[in-house]
Amino acid sequence: MTTTAIRGGLVITAAEETRADVLVEDGKVAALAAPGSAFAQGRQADRTLDATGKYVIPGGVDAHTHLDFPFGGTASSDDFETGTRAAAWGGTTTLVDFAVQSRGQALREGLDRWHAKADGKCAIDYAFHMILSDVNEASLKEMDLLVGEGVTSFKLFMAYPGVFYSDDGQILRAMQRAAGNGGLIMMHAENGIAIDVLVEQALAAGRTDPRHHGEVRKALLEAEATHRAIALAQVAGSPLYVVHVSAEEAVAELARARHKGLPVFGETCPQYLFLSTDNLAEPDFEGAKYVCSTPLRPREHQAALWRGLRTDDLQVVSTDHCPFCFSGQKELGRGDFSKIPNGLPGVENRMDLLHQAVVDGHISRRRWIEIACAAPARMFGLAPHKGTIVPGGDADLVIYDPHAEQTLSAATHHMNVDYSAYEGKRVTGRVETVLSRGEVVIDRRKFTGRAGHGRYVPRTTCQYLT
Ligand code: URP
Ligand code: ZN
Ligand code: ZN
Ligand code: ZN
Repeated sequence: MTTTAIRGGLVITAAEETRADVLVEDGKVAALAAPGSAFAQGRQADRTLDATGKYVIPGGVDAHTHLDFPFGGTASSDDFETGTRAAAWGGTTTLVDFAVQSRGQALREGLDRWHAKADGKCAIDYAFHMILSDVNEASLKEMDLLVGEGVTSFKLFMAYPGVFYSDDGQILRAMQRAAGNGGLIMMHAENGIAIDVLVEQALAAGRTDPRHHGEVRKALLEAEATHRAIALAQVAGSPLYVVHVSAEEAVAELARARHKGLPVFGETCPQYLFLSTDNLAEPDFEGAKYVCSTPLRPREHQAALWRGLRTDDLQVVSTDHCPFCFSGQKELGRGDFSKIPNGLPGVENRMDLLHQAVVDGHISRRRWIEIACAAPARMFGLAPHKGTIVPGGDADLVIYDPHAEQTLSAATHHMNVDYSAYEGKRVTGRVETVLSRGEVVIDRRKFTGRAGHGRYVPRTTCQYLT
């Protein structure tokens, strides 16, 4: 049994900030002790990490990633090895990735495929949600089995007709099933049928540039779908988690539902908080780097997202990390924005960008840890092992230097993608050292982890409901 003491730091959880030494034994947090007293308790540490002047925070929990994900005629450029390593560099120690049921396939086949993709490759722990793209009698029954195996959340799409799209009847049936088995329905809320009409009209009129991606995927069509998803969930008696919320009008729908007391939750992503349609309008096809769905919005929407994060109308910030290289992948959509693979890289940047939000005064330090660690862990049944620092919990810990300055750039990031969505952005704060279940995987800005250290984590059901 190896023991590690992390001494002299400010320990920050969603609940409190305390000056304490953290004692780690056998991969778990053994104790928090008054500074300098850990040894006095009679425990001799094998290794001491100095966190003087630094924060000690829980490892980040990124509840929305797409690694090795076939999409838009290509596949996301990070696999489970490169993606989890980049996550570790960025202070994230747990990912929940999306396994995919393809049309005509059993959930089991899709889940087995994702296990095979991840097995033996991951630097940090991981779990799976399941994307349902074929809701039928058989897949509804399989949902119960998956919940029993720790895959307790299911993503449905109101967008992407002919690919992942489910109609309202399928959505209602899946929600009814989730109401019975404890599963959490995650919704991609955009009216994809209407959007496809607008796409066709835009292309026919010669509006083919990346910025038109943002124009056809209207905020009103996100709000409408969000409203409809909430109504269907209310009818079914099921909870609902809306992913990648970007429009102010969609936040208003969530707030309205929550004020009625409905079990409705919302996630946003750093790209919607820090980027905008200005990026989509960058010349020479550079806007393609910022094509994702829901799309980036005009800057004016950001205030509503920050407010939602402060008022708890939005609970979680995940990345929706779905990287495609500019060269050879984003370029598939030159001359036709609808062929640009949808998705942005960001798994490495989330903790730093949200710390910058603390520096900028948008959120408090504890809210930073809440939305990036504790809330996603509780939302997806990973607490108390993940997302906090508590005796008995996994020693997934980050020593974070709140004063270090860095410039985000593809030249220095570790994601397997040829651009950064935040190229040149200066941020204050940087991950220094990362522990995953007690093992140091980043040691003072050197990767010391290994592929295969990360384990699959079966999840319990949503802990916001019990
Ligand atoms: O553009 C995005 N968000 N790509 C990933 C797939 C999804 O809808 O989350
Ligand atoms: Zn989506
Ligand atoms: Zn509210
Ligand atoms: Zn996604």
